[in-house]
Amino acid sequence: MKFLVVGSTGLIGSYVAKALSKHGQVIGVSRTTQIKVDVKNAASIAAMYEQVGKIDAVASCIGKVIYKPITELTYDEYLLGLTDKAMGQVELVRAGINYLSDGGCFTLMTGILARDPIASATIAALANGAIESFTLAAAIDLPRGIRINTVSPSVLVEATSYHPSFPGYHQVKAVDVADAYVKSIMGKQSGQIYKLD
Ligand SMILES: NC(=O)c1ccc[n+]([C@@H]2O[C@H](COP(=O)([O-])OP(=O)(O)OC[C@H]3O[C@@H](n4cnc5c(N)ncnc54)[C@H](OP(=O)(O)O)[C@@H]3O)[C@@H](O)[C@H]2O)c1
Repeated sequence: MKFLVVGSTGLIGSYVAKALSKHGQVIGVSRTTQIKVDVKNAASIAAMYEQVGKIDAVASCIGKVIYKPITELTYDEYLLGLTDKAMGQVELVRAGINYLSDGGCFTLMTGILARDPIASATIAALANGAIESFTLAAAIDLPRGIRINTVSPSVLVEATSYHPSFPGYHQVKAVDVADAYVKSIMGKQSGQIYKLD
């Protein structure tokens, strides 16, 4: 099997790439890899798929948003967050359908801020909620038995710089987040939001 990991150089992406490598060939992409992609740019996503070719699964481990109080956020900052974390992932799916094998799988990334917010996180919540709703709708719309699920974890044990912003939150291990991607891709489920709290 051939897997594409988008954001493979990041914390979650590196664990996902390692876990998936036990099940097949992994191609890792980000803005700094050999095959490059900028998920904010649809033409860049199209060029990346053209280079990668046919695949059995896409694991998206990207999503960058700005954290600021709602009274300080600009329209453009919301748009940037949606362009990256929401539309970036939607475009990975839309443009990726023709590259995915029958019964292939998209696995997207959101996070606990969709359901259990902290201060200054309205963009993250907005993008996460959009992707989780998109997952439910796309699951019944994708052709050729193609599946889609989303992994939505709490703050990671390894993401120590985030810990002060998440007091009292249970932390999850990166290996457990990676296992949720493996379950999504190697299993048969579709339209699931894997909430790791
Ligand atoms: N860390 C946590 O505790 C946690 C918890 C819940 C949810 N999440 C979510 O998980 C996702 C990944 O988090 P992380 O902690 O693994 O982040 P990270 O370590 O910063 O990794 C981000 C990855 O995305 C790539 N990337 C960034 N901008 C990109 C772009 N425009 N186009 C293509 N690739 C891009 C980065 O690589 P390059 O810089 O090489 O492009 C890197 O590989 C985010 O959506 C985050 O909200 C994280």
